[in-house]
Amino acid sequence: MKDNIDILAIESSCDETAAAVVRNGREVLSNVIYSQIDMHTVYGGVVPELASRAHIEKINPVIEKALSDAGMTLDEIDAVAVTYGPGLVGALLVGVAEAKAIAWAAGKPLIGVHHIEGHISANYIEHPDLKPPYLGLIVSGGHTHLVIVKDWADFEILGRTVDDAAGEAFDKVARAIGLGYPGGPKIDRVAKAGNPDAIVFPRAKVNKSVYDFSFSGLKSAVLNYLNHAAMTGEKVDQADLAASFQKSVVSVLVEHTINAAREHGIRQVAMAGGVASNSALRAAMQAACDREGLSLAIPSPIYCTDNAVMIGVAAFHEYEAGTRSGWDLNAVPGLRLGERGK
Ligand code: KG4
Ligand code: ZN
Repeated sequence: MKDNIDILAIESSCDETAAAVVRNGREVLSNVIYSQIDMHTVYGGVVPELASRAHIEKINPVIEKALSDAGMTLDEIDAVAVTYGPGLVGALLVGVAEAKAIAWAAGKPLIGVHHIEGHISANYIEHPDLKPPYLGLIVSGGHTHLVIVKDWADFEILGRTVDDAAGEAFDKVARAIGLGYPGGPKIDRVAKAGNPDAIVFPRAKVNKSVYDFSFSGLKSAVLNYLNHAAMTGEKVDQADLAASFQKSVVSVLVEHTINAAREHGIRQVAMAGGVASNSALRAAMQAACDREGLSLAIPSPIYCTDNAVMIGVAAFHEYEAGTRSGWDLNAVPGLRLGERGK
C-alpha cells in the first residue's frame, strides 16, 4: 500500500499553462506556470485564439517539467487532475484533452476539477488547520463570489457579482487611466503612492441582494471623472485615482464578508483568486477580521493567481471522496460553482 497520494494537476482555463504535482492535498512537490501575459499585453487583454495556441505549444514541456521537478515519473502518479471549467473553451479543451490522453495511456484515474473550487482550495496548502465550514471570498478576473464552504466540495452561494468581476473592474479601470494590462497588479502598485480619500467614488454594490456585488457603476464613475477632467483641463492624479478606486472595491468586499460572517455565525474566513493578492484588500480584510476576532486565510500571491497546485489540492479531496471522471469528460466554459459536469 502506498502511503501518499500524488496527483499530477493541469490548469489551462485562461492565460496560464500550468502543471503541478501535489502530495496528499497539502504538499507541493512541483509548481510550473508558463504565463502568456506578455503575449496578450500587446492587445490589452487575453485573445482566446492565441491563448489556445500557446497552451498547445507549452502544455507538454510544462507537464514534463512538473514531473521532473517533483522527481517523479507518470507511473508513480496516483491520478491526473484537470480544470474542466469555467474558462475559455478553447483553452480548457487543451488541458482536458491532454489530461485524458495521459491518464488513459498511463492507466491512471482522471479527475475533472472546478476552477473556482481550485482557487478556494489554494488555502489548504499554507493553512493546514483550515477546514470547512468557513466563509469564502473568491475574487478573480472572471468571478466574484461570497460563499459558505459547508464541506470540501459543498458551497452555498451568498452573493456574486451582477456585472463585472472584481478583477475585470481593476483591468478596465487600469486601461482607462493608461496603466495597461494586466491592470490589477499595476493599480495595486500605483495606489501605494496615492490618497485613497482623494476622490469619493460610489460604493461598488447593489441594493437588490445584500451580498451581491456590482462594479460597473464604479467603473462608469471613474470614466465620467476622467471625461470631466479632460473637458475642464483638470490634471488627473493617477495614484490618487487608483487608490480611491481601489478603496471603493476593497471596502465593499470587506463589508459584505464581515456582515455575512456575523449573520451566519462563522468564525473562519478564506480569500482566493487573483484579486486576493491585492495588498490593500489583504490589509483591510486582515484588520477587519482581527477586529471581529475571526481567523483569516489568504494564499501567498503565487497561489492566488491561476496555478495548477490549487487544482491538485481540490482534486485530492475529490479523490478521497471517490470522484472519478469518465473518458468523455468535456470542457464546460460556463460551469457554475457547486455544479457538477461530467
Ligand atoms: O485568478 P486569476 O489569475 O484568473 C482568473 O481566474 O480570472 O485572476 C486574474 C485577475 C486579473 O483581473 C488581475 O488584474 C487580478 O486578478 N489581479 C489583481 C492583482 N493581481 C492580479 N487585482 C488587484 N490587485 C492585484 N495585486
Ligand atoms: Zn482563476
